[in-house]
Amino acid sequence: MMKTKILAAVLIVGAFAGGAYYGAQNRAPVFTSSAGGATYSGGYDQTADTAMSDNTSGVVLAGSGKTWVVEDGDVIMDAVKQAAPGDTIQIMPGTYHETVYIDKDGIRISGVIEEGKRATLHGEGRLNDAILYSGNNVVVENLLITKYKGNAIMGQAGNNFEIRNNVIVDTGVYGVFPQLGKNGVVEHNVISGIEDAAIYVGMSDNIHVAHNEVFDSVAGIEIENSRHAIVENNYVHNNTGGLLAFITPGLPIKTTYDVIFRNNFVVNNNTPNFAAPGSTVAGIPAGTGILVMAADQVIVEGNIITGNKTAGIIITDHNNAPNTTIDPESDPASDEVMILDNLMMNNGFDTIDEVKALMLTEFKTRDNADIVRVGVSRGSCIINRHRYVHVGVSDWDECDFTNTDAIDDYLLDEPVPPRDIDQSEQGKVTYLGICTGCHTYTGRMIGPPVEIIQALYMDDPQGLADYIANPVKKRDDYPEMPPQDYLSPEIRLAVAEYMLKVNN
Ligand code: HEC
Repeated sequence: MMKTKILAAVLIVGAFAGGAYYGAQNRAPVFTSSAGGATYSGGYDQTADTAMSDNTSGVVLAGSGKTWVVEDGDVIMDAVKQAAPGDTIQIMPGTYHETVYIDKDGIRISGVIEEGKRATLHGEGRLNDAILYSGNNVVVENLLITKYKGNAIMGQAGNNFEIRNNVIVDTGVYGVFPQLGKNGVVEHNVISGIEDAAIYVGMSDNIHVAHNEVFDSVAGIEIENSRHAIVENNYVHNNTGGLLAFITPGLPIKTTYDVIFRNNFVVNNNTPNFAAPGSTVAGIPAGTGILVMAADQVIVEGNIITGNKTAGIIITDHNNAPNTTIDPESDPASDEVMILDNLMMNNGFDTIDEVKALMLTEFKTRDNADIVRVGVSRGSCIINRHRYVHVGVSDWDECDFTNTDAIDDYLLDEPVPPRDIDQSEQGKVTYLGICTGCHTYTGRMIGPPVEIIQALYMDDPQGLADYIANPVKKRDDYPEMPPQDYLSPEIRLAVAEYMLKVNN
């Protein structure tokens, strides 16, 4: 699938690339000093959002209440049930086998580390998720989480979250997965052995992902159908693909834009792809440093990108990407990609045939690609392109700025109010916050497409609601679906009804 698609693009690119190459040959390289140059002034304007967060009286902050201590042998969930918004739950070192659901605001889950011993959530390879929160202002810190099948820490429409200082090893599909959240931080976590993304920011806004180490996973850090995200100072190594900004088609939120990848180490991401076959990330070629797919306004600045065998940076549109369908409501192109100074070397040394073919269109036979652009990309720019081995960016403009120094982060000064959920919207919010983590409308994600599910359960919402409470294995080539029995029967029916009527 990938082969035919990329090759089709090669023919098109080939039709005009020759001219671009000869044109470029006679030109002296444009040198742009990255020290003291202009600062990026586009992107996000926080004023509108700040006005919105003026009304924060209803927000209960974590750490403002009492403290509950959970001892080894106790059940964390018992403490969560007793806790009131604002309370802290301290978990003493020990091993806990459970799933913790947090549906209150302002809860701080804080592991106690004693002489290096951590509070450990151990899923024994049978539990699905370690921590699921739907409350706002939730903090999860200082835990060790291992051997779950679904997610280590998943946020379901909770705002103002802080997830930090956790060690996460082999927890199934996603490591840290805030879904549908606004104004959140993921920092200082060490995450490895994840079948999809170690850090997956899904359908979220105003996110800061910093100082994490992610490795031995299929995708390192993924910014997906999200806006205003900064990913900086992370160590991203030995994954299949390192940093990704993209749009998954068929999800209810249709855009990804305003993303900054800066000052990260993106090194040796050559791990063979071990994602569930057919899933979106299963299409990432091993050896991809940074991938931009259909996302707009992505700035790549100050990263050290080395040893990624397919390419340092790949920019593609949906038409040239494997395992994607076209969503008529999402623009498939990666527009306004901005590549500033990065240190890139020793990338593309064992690349895929498609990239070799693209390189040939620009008569580059020996060089190994740092930057590969395939498909449509409008309004993109780059500085100091002569430093890199590149294909598909000769005709990009020179950026009129050299750094993003004026932007510290995209977080809001005040916590945003909780998402206002009307009873009539329960089904929709549950669908957005939970189901779309694994189901898209038309394509295969982790689970089958919603279109197929609609055909199966057309007039039977109750049957669907019953299935998700206690899913049985139906398809040999899919993983098991985790039970959603923590949702009340009413919410299960509401989400079933909603899933049966969505149309994109
Ligand atoms: C962690 C991933 C994941 C999440 C989250 C998830 N699903 Fe699934 N779902 C799957 C997988 C995988 C399958 C395929 C299971 C199989 O065929 O054995 C599936 C299958 C299904 C099916 C098909 C049942 C059938 O009879 O064929 C329905 C219906 C469904 N999911 C509904 C939902 C709803 C509603 C939600 C949200 C409340 C949801 N799923 C959340 C992964 C997920």
